[in-house]
Amino acid sequence: MTTAAGKKIPFVDLKAQYRSIRPEIDAAIARVIENTSFILGEEVEAFEREFATYTGFRHVVGVANGTDAIHIVLRAMGMTPGDQLVAPAHTFIATTEAATQAGATLRLAEVSDTTFCMTRQTLEAALTPATRFIAHVPIYGNPAGLDEVVETGRRRGIPVMIDSAQAHGARLGGRRLGEIADVATYSFFPGKNLGAYGDAGAIATNDPDLARRARMWRNHGREGKFDHEFEAVNSRLDSLQAAILRAKLPHLEDWCRARRAVAALYREALGGIPGLRLPEETPGADHVYHLYVVRLQGRERVARALAEAGVATGVHYPAPIHRLKAYEHLGLGRGSFPVSETICETILSLPMYPEMGREEVETVARALRSALA
Ligand SMILES: Cc1ncc(COP(=O)(O)O)c(C=O)c1O
Repeated sequence: MTTAAGKKIPFVDLKAQYRSIRPEIDAAIARVIENTSFILGEEVEAFEREFATYTGFRHVVGVANGTDAIHIVLRAMGMTPGDQLVAPAHTFIATTEAATQAGATLRLAEVSDTTFCMTRQTLEAALTPATRFIAHVPIYGNPAGLDEVVETGRRRGIPVMIDSAQAHGARLGGRRLGEIADVATYSFFPGKNLGAYGDAGAIATNDPDLARRARMWRNHGREGKFDHEFEAVNSRLDSLQAAILRAKLPHLEDWCRARRAVAALYREALGGIPGLRLPEETPGADHVYHLYVVRLQGRERVARALAEAGVATGVHYPAPIHRLKAYEHLGLGRGSFPVSETICETILSLPMYPEMGREEVETVARALRSALA
């Protein structure tokens, strides 16, 4: 189906991005194939250095995906079975799933109705004397409040891991994540703000010992060829993906700016519509809009109307962690985290990608206005 103007608006447009940097990507892929260095080696090391410079962390360890990054870093931080980890109720399952598989006992925290993230207050309400780790998620790319969560963890001596799968490039008070937090994980899933052409992920830290252990964890518990010090996993960042990420990284700042510009266009085009709540920006927090998420009633009907008008949408995510079948055993019924539950019932993700122009934003806005009228 197409819009009145005859043009479909996709949810993301990875082809447009490829077309804009095609020679750089093609050259990167050709370089790896020519060198036949497919596992770790130069490309992975160079990407790790370059991404460390970009994020402000001292060390980056490339791994196979963002889920493994969480699992591996928690194991490398010394998580043992039964250690309690506090995580937000509103996140993608990877955050909690990877922690549980690393041995964590989950304890969920409520999130803010405006930032969609855990706050100092909701974290403090969830902490217990048994809490050993905290996972914070700057969801949709919003870093607001992240510094307070990190500070709360530091004050109590509890390590805070930032699951930054959706927040590459987000800054708080002008500071990069590596200048605020001690440990973060990244996903380079293709649709992410920095996306590979397949699965890829990374661990970032300022602690050289943690970086060394994570490096061993991703590669069968070894540093040299056969000196396995412990049983671990095979979760190496693919060299082809590293080369592609290196080609894309120099563009990431521009893409973050373009996402913020699209958000500003949305604000202009969607302001003042009754019953529609737009994402709020916290002063000093540079939201990087991995997703542009609005709030409304009657989401299914509105999403259907938008689809009929040729506008793709998504829901991230339809249920909070405690309401997923996978977590029935936690015994947390409806009403346990009312803010997260209401968020999940009323959110709708609109198309968002750096190459989106005013015309596309206005087409989405027209369709949304008429669906809500
Ligand atoms: C918040 C969050 N954490 C973790 C992940 C997992 O990343 P990956 O798909 O690379 O395993 C994702 C990816 O969708 C995510 O959005």
